[in-house]
Amino acid sequence: MKPTELVGASPGPTFTITFDGRQLDALPGQSVAAVLWSVGILSWRTTRGGGRPRGAFCGIGQCYDCLATVNGAPNRRACLVTARPGDTVMTQEGNGHAGFED
Ligand code: FES
Repeated sequence: MKPTELVGASPGPTFTITFDGRQLDALPGQSVAAVLWSVGILSWRTTRGGGRPRGAFCGIGQCYDCLATVNGAPNRRACLVTARPGDTVMTQEGNGHAGFED
């Protein structure tokens, strides 16, 4: 049984976002993290020290493990950002400002 059937939800039509160049289907109201989880993507950031993979941990905006670059803006909490049609999400490396320093 699909999760939407379990809760009796009838979401609107899907739309597309892009993650690292990959087209992903999203449902209205899903967070960016939820869209990534729904296709099995669990990591979309690397740590500043050591480049270790990170994704969502708390899912409620408290831990900042889920930072991603969304539509060119780094350090967006993917668990709180609602996916919108045409969004471009990128894996964030380090502090998210690579290439912006002098
Ligand atoms: S998962 Fe903890 S802030 Fe997003």
